[in-house]
Amino acid sequence: MTDHLTIVTHPLVQHKLTLMRDKTTSTGSFRQLLREISALLAYEVTRDLELTTRTIETPMQQVDAPVLKGKKLALVSILRAGNGLLDGVLELIPSARVGFVGLYRDEVTLKPVQYYCKLPEGLEDRLVIVVDPMLATGNSSAAAVDLLKAAGATNILFLCLLAAPEGVARMKEAHPDVPIVTASLDKRLNEQGYILPGLGDAGDRMFGTK
Ligand code: URA
Repeated sequence: MTDHLTIVTHPLVQHKLTLMRDKTTSTGSFRQLLREISALLAYEVTRDLELTTRTIETPMQQVDAPVLKGKKLALVSILRAGNGLLDGVLELIPSARVGFVGLYRDEVTLKPVQYYCKLPEGLEDRLVIVVDPMLATGNSSAAAVDLLKAAGATNILFLCLLAAPEGVARMKEAHPDVPIVTASLDKRLNEQGYILPGLGDAGDRMFGTK
């Protein structure tokens, strides 16, 4: 994965995303769709994982067959909406280590402040996939990546469902070495920092809060 932004245009991803955007979609359906779309995005995001071979015996003969090389992956969810993406990705990569980062926006400085951080060990040897459904201003995403780099991560990928051009630009400026994979590059942010056309508040829609 070398491009800074990859948009997953697979018809199943695009179809499910449209259903998720629809405001009449129920919380239950939204959650189910998120789980399904996350697994499809995980398929795309792991496309370049390195393989090696292992010698095995099939019932017919011995063969050198491909297996994933190296250490397990680490997934890092940005709380709370990241957890919705996390579930689907974990279905495809069940042995991945999982970390969590919680950030809130300080009302005076408007800067992200960390309130929770629990990360797996050995980040320096892992591909770290950061999951957050909405790349909006990019401030919390950039701060989360700062934190991961400070903890030793060098190989980081950012996986989201929707990205705003403002968030992509912010990430590119702060972390040009971190590729972004998304299902859609939307139009813009509104005055409140919501993505347009977007899907509303991802956390509220997946957890049924308001
Ligand atoms: N977070 C959300 O949940 N939705 C947006 O549109 C932007 C940020």
